[in-house]
Amino acid sequence: MTDQPITDPKDLPAADPHTGQREVDPVTGYETTGHDWSGIKELNTPFPKIVIWAFVLTFLYAIITWVLLPAWPYGRDYSRGLLGLEQGEMAAANFAELDARRQDWIAQFDGSPDFKVLDGDADLMATAMPAANRLFLDNCSVCHGAQGEGGPGFPVLNDIYWLWGGGPETVAETLRVGINAAHPDTRWAQMPAFDWMERQDRQQLAEHVAALRDGKADPDGAGATLFAENCVACHGEAGVGGLMNGAPALTDTAVIYGQDAASVNQTLRFGRQGVMPYWSDRLSDPEINLLALYVKRLSEEVSE
Ligand code: HEC
Ligand code: HEC
Repeated sequence: MTDQPITDPKDLPAADPHTGQREVDPVTGYETTGHDWSGIKELNTPFPKIVIWAFVLTFLYAIITWVLLPAWPYGRDYSRGLLGLEQGEMAAANFAELDARRQDWIAQFDGSPDFKVLDGDADLMATAMPAANRLFLDNCSVCHGAQGEGGPGFPVLNDIYWLWGGGPETVAETLRVGINAAHPDTRWAQMPAFDWMERQDRQQLAEHVAALRDGKADPDGAGATLFAENCVACHGEAGVGGLMNGAPALTDTAVIYGQDAASVNQTLRFGRQGVMPYWSDRLSDPEINLLALYVKRLSEEVSE
């Protein structure tokens, strides 16, 4: 780099005083600007035409779109443009069209459908189950897990064990009214607290219940007696459940809160009352039926 000062325009070599012309580059025929960097001279080439055209076209384009399309805000309103295009309306129309396409098949889930017939319709299921999966992910997976695998306090749905029953009619009803929910017809289930019981008895019961699940309970022990006196009304003889009254079987692998002695002790001391929200105000009837069939299929995938 040279440390030559930048040439001030007024120091440029003047046009030839005799001819009035600047120096002309012999190769290109353009005048030079007079700038000279160690013998390299700058040519005074015209502004490229293509750029000028690009400017002109973009200006024209802008003016045409101002006239044709919505463009200028005037306070609360805006210029609509001669074409009268309205993207909000276009989007609404697209939605309406999608909805109409969905109505074609989802109408079959309205009312009290015959779930067996729907379930057997392979084409319908191919369309409906992906939609049901999205509904499940949006509304149910927070509590029941993405595959219905459940979690502490939230029952597993992709197994064959049920509190209220896994048939689609039953599940649809569970969804409509919820469990211990705010709906006037909600399903109601409460594991009462046995805090009045002697601590020692609770401990014996807890051990008995933990053993029930492993199939190692002593049917003649003190735990079994306490169980028969206090628990079978809801949990069934020897805890086999199946009463579909919201009380789970205590003999299978489906566990909501934990079936080790410590968890059962906790359940006995404080009771349990899980809440499943009701959905009849948030999902449409067909959507609820769709989900009911989805839940049934979830449990079948596992039992197959
Ligand atoms: C806020 C958490 C929550 C959400 C969200 C939720 N559930 Fe539940 N669900 C529960 C709880 C808790 C229970 C168990 C209630 C009990 O312990 O008695 C339950 C129970 C159920 C049952 C009864 C299972 C049986 O064994 O009979 C079904 C079926 C069910 N839910 C399906 C769904 C579906 C489908 C959705 C989505 C529309 C959903 N749940 C959303 C918390 C939830
Ligand atoms: C009035 C009916 C009722 C009686 C009586 C009752 N239970 Fe329950 N029990 C329930 C219900 C309903 C649930 C489910 C609660 C929930 O899901 O929120 C439950 C849940 C449980 C659970 C939790 C199971 C799990 O999967 O985590 C255990 C353990 C249990 N009961 C043990 C007992 C024992 C032991 C007794 C007798 C001392 C007993 N219950 C008496 C209704 C009853």
